[in-house]
Amino acid sequence: MKIMTVVGARPNYMKAAPIIMAIRKHNKKTAQANAGLAGEIAVPAIDHLLVHTGQHYDALMSDSFFADLNLPAPDVRLGVGSGSHAAQTAEVIKRFEAVLLRERPDVVIVVGDVNSTLGCALVTSKISFDSAGKRPLLAHVEAGLRSFDRAMPEEINRVLTDHICDLLFVTEESALRNLRNEGIAPETVHFVGNTMIDSLIAFKEKAETSTILERLNLRAHAANNGKSGSIARYALLTLHRPSNVDIGDTFLNILAGLEELAADCPIVFPVHPRTQQRIKELGSALQPGMSGTTTNGNGRDSGNHRGGLILTDPLGYLDFLCLMKHATIVVTDSGGIQEETTFLRIPCVTVRDNTERPATVESGTNIIAGTTKEKVEAAIRRQMASEGSNKMPKKWDGRAATRIIDVLVSAYCGRAASRQSAMCSSLGEGVSPSSRGSSGCAPSVLGT
Ligand code: UD1
Repeated sequence: MKIMTVVGARPNYMKAAPIIMAIRKHNKKTAQANAGLAGEIAVPAIDHLLVHTGQHYDALMSDSFFADLNLPAPDVRLGVGSGSHAAQTAEVIKRFEAVLLRERPDVVIVVGDVNSTLGCALVTSKISFDSAGKRPLLAHVEAGLRSFDRAMPEEINRVLTDHICDLLFVTEESALRNLRNEGIAPETVHFVGNTMIDSLIAFKEKAETSTILERLNLRAHAANNGKSGSIARYALLTLHRPSNVDIGDTFLNILAGLEELAADCPIVFPVHPRTQQRIKELGSALQPGMSGTTTNGNGRDSGNHRGGLILTDPLGYLDFLCLMKHATIVVTDSGGIQEETTFLRIPCVTVRDNTERPATVESGTNIIAGTTKEKVEAAIRRQMASEGSNKMPKKWDGRAATRIIDVLVSAYCGRAASRQSAMCSSLGEGVSPSSRGSSGCAPSVLGT
């Protein structure tokens, strides 16, 4: 059984990494289960290929995540790079088709909602490997999320991807409702949990080995061991959505809404390349006192940390996770960070007008603040005074990727069995699949 997983942009890597880990575990277990069986293979081993579209290509947006998440080097690199939505998606489509025709996988997995997700899903849904129209099973991880805001490029990617996939893996209950309301066949939908949370659970202890707190002067050094010093109060900020940073007034409004917080504690702001560009363009239009201290996060900066912004380059997964774990509050326009703060029970203020992840609000850790100065300020005050929350969305337990692999193997076996049975009856042999299945799969071994 050959599975191809596609990644393209920063938020994809932590969603794909647990799937690759689950495949390794599956293969180990399969080898053991099959060891005693002569001749007949009980459960198929998985041959995995990782495709990187190259939507994100900077070391800080890509390579560092591969290292932090123990991801294998991509087997195929499409090298599409940046461009308009049309140009970027078109390049993904053109280049991915050639790879699919060459590799002919049984399953293609796309994750998340970036342009690479939609581009590769579109190609897979229309490809044909033979005259019978054979094509891979197409699976979407993180299906069904909806902001109901079609001005968001990601919303278009989500809706279209979900409607052309064969298997939809869902992270929260709202997604089940959304897919049902859109008429998606329920038997294609599987509520498995959240692979991004699988990664967080797998790496949250390792994140403590990060030295980012020392590099940003946020941890006082003890005599012999820098790790034992107390950690300063600080906030963590990320902003990268075009609707927030590409429109000058909105960006300045959000920053104005952060001034009160910045006077209280430092705000660490790892700056996405798109936002770095905007900051350069805005220059002196940034509020006084909001330009803060700049550091690349690799060397100790000399700023005082009573307040202001600490700007850094984009950070790696472990550095960022460490910062998130110890933050007093997180302010963000990211989707994934709303989920990670929910799991970590860190108060989060989302500077958007909506969220496609309502479970984070229902769990009590996240507030959807809007983007005006007054609303951002009010939401931050509310979150700073909040008592915290103990609610956790269902199935965010570190086992989502294992559930996904189990479903995929069963679906592959079922498909292989029905194809073989159709072939046999057209040859007049009338062979029906045995309990083991003519595909050679034994689904009973699959449950984990
Ligand atoms: C993309 C995703 C968004 C995701 C975000 C995470 C889409 C539609 N958007 O947005 O959902 O939340 O990634 O970062 O797919 N750039 C670099 N180096 C890189 C990559 C990009 O400098 O490695 C710069 C380029 O100038 C590029 C700009 O950042 O034009 C934006 O990159 P792009 O991939 O178009 O979208 P993101 O804003 O990163």
